[in-house]
Amino acid sequence: MTDREAQKRLAAGRAVDFVQSGMRLGLGTGSTARLVTELVGARLRAGELRDIVGVPTSRATAALARELGIPLSTIDDTPALDLAIDGADEFDPQLDLIKGMGGALLWEKIVERAAKRLVIVADESKRVNLLGTRSPLPVEVVPFGCRTVDTFLRSLGAAAELRQNQDGTPFMTDGGHYIIHCRFAGGIPDAAATELTLARRPGIVESGLFIGMATTVVVAGDGTLEVLERP
Ligand code: A5P
Repeated sequence: MTDREAQKRLAAGRAVDFVQSGMRLGLGTGSTARLVTELVGARLRAGELRDIVGVPTSRATAALARELGIPLSTIDDTPALDLAIDGADEFDPQLDLIKGMGGALLWEKIVERAAKRLVIVADESKRVNLLGTRSPLPVEVVPFGCRTVDTFLRSLGAAAELRQNQDGTPFMTDGGHYIIHCRFAGGIPDAAATELTLARRPGIVESGLFIGMATTVVVAGDGTLEVLERP
């Protein structure tokens, strides 16, 4: 197991302690969130948790949760959640996030906005002072006219690249959209303003900027485990 894998496991083990019986729980997407979902399944099987209703943020997470025997609902049938737990690509000192390199940002944002509490699970490599310094910003766009959006993103100073599958076809999200990865040299100085600028542009469905959403980040480093609460 790599150090990073061990850190993810350590943080996932701590984050799952936030889950209590009877909760309506948003289930995240990605390699870290997968560990959390597995632990929830194990605690249900062991009888340590009861009456959990999981709301998945992607088809992949839904399939995994089903395999693990976690009772599932949809965000439309269960539009208010007690807690959501997910990974992130970056978190900053305000606990603002970049998410979506797993391709599920829109459904994640919808589900996680509906949660009273959002706990992010991360290894130390995800910590940054300024969002966008390490990870590109994924932006989910409708296929129609996506080249006009690409031009717009470049006008904001981003190096923009359409996410592709290995065979060169555009990657398609569960919602039927494309994703453009945007690299901002030196990071994103005002992430809240950037989120609004992107949201106003026709053709952009959602960006991977999750501002003011995370209440808690559980981060594991080399032999360290911290639980950070939103300042
Ligand atoms: C999924 O779309 C993402 O938001 C993930 O939460 C994020 O990419 C982190 O993924 P890993 O846990 O695999 O690093």
